[in-house]
Amino acid sequence: MSSEIKPACKLPRLLQGYQPRPCSIVSVGSYVPERVVTNADLETMVDTSDEWITSRTGIKERRLAAANEFTSDLAAKAAKRAMEKGGITGDQIDLIIVATITPDMLFPSTACLVQQKIGAGRCAAFDLEAACSGFIYGLEIAQQFIMSGTFKTVLVIGAEKLSTIIDWKDRNTCVLFGDGAGAAILQSRPDQHGLITSTLGADGGKAELLSMPAGGSRCPATAESLSSGLHYLRMDGKETFKSAVNAMVSAAQECLRRCGLDISEIKCVIPHQANLRIIDAVSDRLGAKPEQVFINLHRYGNTSAASVAIALDEAVSEGRVKRGDLILMVVFGAGLTWGAAVIEW
Ligand code: ACO
Repeated sequence: MSSEIKPACKLPRLLQGYQPRPCSIVSVGSYVPERVVTNADLETMVDTSDEWITSRTGIKERRLAAANEFTSDLAAKAAKRAMEKGGITGDQIDLIIVATITPDMLFPSTACLVQQKIGAGRCAAFDLEAACSGFIYGLEIAQQFIMSGTFKTVLVIGAEKLSTIIDWKDRNTCVLFGDGAGAAILQSRPDQHGLITSTLGADGGKAELLSMPAGGSRCPATAESLSSGLHYLRMDGKETFKSAVNAMVSAAQECLRRCGLDISEIKCVIPHQANLRIIDAVSDRLGAKPEQVFINLHRYGNTSAASVAIALDEAVSEGRVKRGDLILMVVFGAGLTWGAAVIEW
């Protein structure tokens, strides 16, 4: 018998010289629809008031997409802005990830529709469903593909047309949400800025707190499901609120701990824009000063997967962060899902 040990597979040879590649956000872009719906407008639709909405949520107005403007349109507009800013052409993109809970259709994926709208050739494309946490989930997935060398350029989009799954007669939910999209282009570049670390989590045991019960395989569309309003978003607001604060604080703390950072070293905290009271509670518990925290929910309400993506784009355009600054993003949504990421801009 030969004593020679044969390699079990070619992998060690293939991995020779393998170096994980750092992942950078090259550019960001966002788009919100033109139509503005104010709290005063909502007062004419349901039994509510500007005072109630402002004091309970911090929201003053939100944007609603036109009837012929779909999630893929919002996503494509945000993506094109990010591509312009980064000088990236469609044929450079290797993968498109669209995070959304309001796809144009259950299938094909909205990412495939976006691919056509931005002229991205025949790159890989898929949707990701992690509700309001989708954009951070998407950034982490993109980072894995880039670090491994599988793809060079990845486009991550958070996009929602939530107005289509809202019961506009339900004051408990209709005042909270809006439509919009945000996009980021990721590549490996030699300069230092990039995704430093992220934390992702989920608790399917609390799936019922926030859901759209019908339209899937469990409850397909029927005349009865329609008349019972099962195709609308449902939420246990109070329980969601408590879970959101706890999960966001833990995720953010875990992320900071992994990087060995103190909150005072973070230039800009970008939390999911669902409710000002949630943002305040999370900021307090993290020890973040008000001037560190980016807030735009008074203008857009909760845009789910688009929320932190739009906020990141606005924070950059408003000069709140500059290259080299550290950003902490922290999100929470249906699933339940949550996540946080530290980025060196
Ligand atoms: N106008 C006036 N009154 C209202 C309205 C309204 N728009 N909505 C509810 N009320 C009433 C309720 O009916 C209730 O009246 P009642 O006491 O007579 O029954 C009263 O106001 C108080 O309601 P609460 O539920 O106690 O109000 P709360 O302070 O909890 O605020 C809210 C409600 C804003 C929904 C809050 O619970 C919240 O923000 N929850 C978290 C939502 C969230 O973060 N979602 C994130 C994920 S979203 C995603 O993933 C898609």
